[in-house]
Amino acid sequence: MRTDYCANLSEKDVGKEVVLCGWANSYRDHGGVIFIDLRDKSGIVQLVCDPADSQKAHKVATRVRDEYVLIAKGKVRKRGEGLENPKLKTGTIEVVVDELIIENESEPLPFLIGDTSVNEEIRLKYRYLDLRTKEAFETFELRSKAAIAARNFLDEHGFLEVETPILTKSTPEGARDYLVPSRLYPGEFYALPQSPQLFKQLLMVAGFDRYFQIAKCFRDEDLRADRQPEFTQIDVEMSFCTEDEVMEIAEGLIASIFKAVGIEVKPPFKRMPYKEAMEKYGSDKPDLRYDLPLTDVIDIFEDTELKVFRDIAQYKKLNRIKALKVPGGALGLSRKDIDHLTDFVAKFGAKGLAWVKVKEDDLQGPIVKFLSDKEKKAIIERTKAEPGDLIFFGAGSKKVVLDYMGRLRQEVAKKMGLIDHDRYEFVWIVDFPMFEIEEGEVKIKALHHPFTKPKNIDTEDIEEMTSEAYDIVLNGVELGGGSIRIHKPEMQKKIFEILGIGDEEAKEKFGFLLDALKFGAPPHGGFAIGFDRLIMLLTKRDNIRDVIAFPKTQKAQCLLTQAPSPVDPEQLKELHIRIREPKKHEAQ
Ligand code: AMO
Ligand code: AMP
Repeated sequence: MRTDYCANLSEKDVGKEVVLCGWANSYRDHGGVIFIDLRDKSGIVQLVCDPADSQKAHKVATRVRDEYVLIAKGKVRKRGEGLENPKLKTGTIEVVVDELIIENESEPLPFLIGDTSVNEEIRLKYRYLDLRTKEAFETFELRSKAAIAARNFLDEHGFLEVETPILTKSTPEGARDYLVPSRLYPGEFYALPQSPQLFKQLLMVAGFDRYFQIAKCFRDEDLRADRQPEFTQIDVEMSFCTEDEVMEIAEGLIASIFKAVGIEVKPPFKRMPYKEAMEKYGSDKPDLRYDLPLTDVIDIFEDTELKVFRDIAQYKKLNRIKALKVPGGALGLSRKDIDHLTDFVAKFGAKGLAWVKVKEDDLQGPIVKFLSDKEKKAIIERTKAEPGDLIFFGAGSKKVVLDYMGRLRQEVAKKMGLIDHDRYEFVWIVDFPMFEIEEGEVKIKALHHPFTKPKNIDTEDIEEMTSEAYDIVLNGVELGGGSIRIHKPEMQKKIFEILGIGDEEAKEKFGFLLDALKFGAPPHGGFAIGFDRLIMLLTKRDNIRDVIAFPKTQKAQCLLTQAPSPVDPEQLKELHIRIREPKKHEAQ
């Protein structure tokens, strides 16, 4: 229907006969002459409907309203002196219309196109209107380019794209499954895959050597800004490979995606052992766009008069006292800021947040009166503090202190304006512990998943067992992760034993994988990158919903289709399902 896209026209097209298609972004009637801003995915160009040029087109133009769908035929001309619009890419030209067709009308809109101040619920309900902007189009154009770059890179490196089932059996990524009832087998269910993990391992047993898939994954978990119940992974697996080789492929893949959208990043990326990340940054996904490390100071407080700290310092294995030095914080953070930060860490279990300001030859703050000269000196030396700095202290059990001091670090960086939003800081976290052992809990869980290969399976202390797992972190967000897998049945059996998964349970849950390991499974490993998260970071959004065409809300609803929704009783009957009335406390 069209000859050109609106915003692709320029002065070099002056005199050209064009046919344009799009939406009426706005219209103005200037004493007989009607101006319409016509918009398509490329942007906007001005149409001029003057009865002196075409009475018929002008008559049609009088009926045009916002968001009417138009086809306009006319000629490009240069705008008159002083009539240019510098805000428009096409601001020096306009199209004189000699034929105008209203292809469709539009009812008054629930919100103005592009108005992001509107309540998100309304925008999601009319998502197709929310997406009718240049910004949205560009986000999805970038997403498409990124996916194509990923496919091209992996294709060039010998990876085969294979689809794996959506109706399947529970996979072990640790979230709750979405279940699909079976009509043919009463009381039985398919699970939607939390990832293609087991299938990609089976493809390695099949000898495919290198697999990838841009895969939909489903996890029924608590949603956050960077979590959706269904999301997309670039999922990769390869055979006869070392940890380094897998990481090199992941780095190449990431670099090629960044390149496709015009950003240069240079692998190899930094690597940091899990323990170091936790102790130094209080997180296994540290944001390294700024430094602000945590410093261990527990030994300094062994004999201190500050009783809480002295008590905590008696148990060095279980407890931590961490200092966070804020350069320039003595002036940069007000008393109000400090109170706010104290309330902030309290939400994550902090019992208090001690602090001192560093002066020319002393420390100042509420706890200083309890500190000996020796302790003060040690604090300054250990944290390399300078006059004008402020030092926070968190004391308590290891897990809690590392967590809230890590969060404090991020919050302080925000407050002090230390984050360079144009930087992309990648870091691989390596040497993960094999198991997650919750204090006071009997159950041991696999930190990655139970098919991850341990590095030191013969170690006496399973807390010291590390795995060949790696996570790639970008600007404090876990972008992806993977591992070398167990490919020998005996080793898999041993890990299941430690996890308390008996033979019966293992057979029932993963029997097909265990069988496959018996028939010549090659050494193999892989990774998956959270594609939505990657696009979120590339487009500098803080919410994953912005980069998913039809996302769900924080409460896992699709406001557009109203899913989930009740179904026909007939359908339930076919599925052998009877709904129990939710008890009062269960209702939402
Ligand atoms: P993992 O569970 O770490 O690994 O997932 C890989 C990456 O997927 C992204 N991700 C999510 N993105 C949006 N919403 C979610 N709910 C969500 N959950 C995860 C993250 C994460 O880093 N099978 C393994 C990979 C492997 O070992 O090869 C796996 O799925 O960016
Ligand atoms: P208190 O003696 O309870 O008034 O505490 C003295 C100072 O130490 C206050 O600034 C508290 O915020 C701080 N504080 C108390 N408990 C802790 C803790 N577990 N970690 C860090 N600071 C603490």
